[in-house]
Formats: sequence, structure tokens, C-alpha cells
Amino acid sequence: MARIGILTGGGDCPGLNAVIRGIVRAGVNRHGHSIVGFRYGWAGVLNSNMTELTPQNTAGILHRGGTILGSSRTNPYKDGADGTAIVRRIMEQNGIDALIPIGGEDTLGVAGKLSHDGVPVVGVPKTIDNDLAGTDVTFGFNTAVQIATDAVDRLHTTAESHNRVMVVEVMGRHAGWIAAYSGIAGGADVILVPERPFDIAEVCRSIERRHGTGRTFSIVVVSEGAVPDDGGEITTGSGQVDAFGHVRLGGIAVTLEREIEERTGFETRVTILGHVQRGGTPTAYDRVLATRFGVHAVEAASEGQWGTMVALKGTDIELVGLEQAVAAPKLLDPELYRTAEVFFG
Ligand code: F6P
Repeated sequence: MARIGILTGGGDCPGLNAVIRGIVRAGVNRHGHSIVGFRYGWAGVLNSNMTELTPQNTAGILHRGGTILGSSRTNPYKDGADGTAIVRRIMEQNGIDALIPIGGEDTLGVAGKLSHDGVPVVGVPKTIDNDLAGTDVTFGFNTAVQIATDAVDRLHTTAESHNRVMVVEVMGRHAGWIAAYSGIAGGADVILVPERPFDIAEVCRSIERRHGTGRTFSIVVVSEGAVPDDGGEITTGSGQVDAFGHVRLGGIAVTLEREIEERTGFETRVTILGHVQRGGTPTAYDRVLATRFGVHAVEAASEGQWGTMVALKGTDIELVGLEQAVAAPKLLDPELYRTAEVFFG
């Protein structure tokens, strides 16, 4: 029996509440642990901002988006701080034996450092971007893809009515998973991903070829991190970076809209889906994956499997080293893009 602290860090993601519920239900009822939830990611650890979690107060959250604990991009090691010493002190003061952080590469990167310094940690990977190494899939991705696909379906009908080119921008940071999946599922005519720098002239030629065969509209799905082959990232952000040094992406679709309209003469409109892809209720797939991750993470903690994270391998949940979470990001499978290309232009 142990007292386990949990937290959700980084961008929120549909399925976080299902993980929390899974950890609490299995932790308390099956293993006899007590579970404490830190508020707003690592910020809650640094400020001792926490709340007792029970099967009762985590009931009814399975289907809810966001995270009941709140989230932040706080980095306990920012500006050379001794994050390990601070986290250890807070754990000791509150009688916490182990941590289960739920997050992406940044949150799990902190978990990896703590584990390296001897703090008992088991990680749970999350991100809508699906770009974390070590796990085949992250929960939240399926929901984001479904939301983006629904949007592409809707844009199809209005594009057709007005003979327009629709440019739809999706999230994903430097990986094109959301763009490729929603583009394939939604029947996009062009899909632009960060892994394949694009030539705007070729994009326009492809649209013109399609319209030359009698089609009157086109759908372009672009990942926020897509880059032209003659330049770097295009964003409408301020260029500021977060506590982990990430620049804010978003806005490339605005440039594409202008370029496509100017070069082809086809009327073009832009839709940036943004945080809509992260909000709302998780799909059944994400609820199940997140629940399995939560239950397995607390099992790993009960067995003292420190320094690991739960991961989906094929159809099984396995434990892998936490260092895998911060290894090179899992980029889009080129074979998937080859499949998507069959339907371009
Ligand atoms: O990593 C998830 C993600 O939604 C990315 O796709 C996106 O670039 C980023 O987070 C947005 O972050 P924020 O919520 O800080 O704007």
C-alpha cells in the first residue's frame, strides 16, 4: 500500500480523465493505495497544490474531455533549477511514495530526469499528435482525427456548392499523423505534412489538374507544422516559446489560401481547426486505451517497475523505459503517405 501522486501536464487531450479514473479505481479498490492529484501539472507539485482522489470524487468523468486536475507547461528544471530536490521535498512533506505523471515528451522528460535521480516514477504517455516514440498510439489522437474528419466532411459540401478550394489546417506539431489520417478519412485532394516539405507551385498544379478533369472544388488538409521546400515554418504566432522551448505553431493555412487563390484563380477559403481538436468528449477508442493505460500504470507502480511508461504495442499494453518517451519523435509512416498520394490531384 502506497500513497501515489498523479498529475496531467502539457496540452490537454481527450482521455485524460479516463486515465485518472482508471488509476484511482484500480489503485484504491484493487491495490489499497491512496491517490493524490496535483493541480496543473508540475506547477501543482512545486506549489503543493493537491487534492485527495477517491473512487467517489472521480466517478462520472470517463466521458469528459479536458482534465479534472488542470494542466500546465510548467518545467521544474527551468533556468537550471534543481527540480529533483524540490519534487523530493514536496513528496516527503506530503508522504507521497511515488508519482504517475501523465503527459507528452516534456512532462515525461521531467519524469525521466526524476527517475534517473532515484524518484519512483511510472509514466503515462498522452498527446493528440501521436508523435511519442515507444508507443504505437497515444490516446487523444483518435478523437482529434475524428473531429478533423467531421470538419473535412462538412467543408466538402460547402466547397462543392461554391466551387471553392478549402484549406483546412490541423494540429500535430512536427508530425503529420492528424493531417494524414483525417485527410485520408475525409478524402482530401492534397495533404501537406511536416515530413514532406512542399512545393507551392506543385500544390497548385495538382489542384489545376484535378479541376481540369471537371471537378469544381478541392480540399487541402495541411498540418500546422508543414514547411515549404524553400523555407522554414510559417506561423502567425508571436514567435515566443513555452517553458520547454517550443515555438507556437499555427497559421500556415492563411498563407496557403492566399497563394492558391493568386496562383490558380480559384476562389479559396481557410479553416483553422485549432483547439477544437483537443476539446470535448473522447471517442470510445480513446476511453478504452486511456483506461487500460491508467490501470496498467498503477499495476506497474504496485510492482515497483520504476522508470517505465505504459505503451501500446500492437494490441497489448507493455512497459517500456521512460527514456523512450523523449527519444526522437515518431514521425509519419512514409508508407501511409504513399497511400494518401494515390488520391491527390
Ligand atoms: O501537442 C499538442 C498540441 O495541441 C499541438 O498539436 C499544438 O501545436 C500545441 O499542442 C498547441 O499548444 P497550446 O495549447 O499551448 O496552444
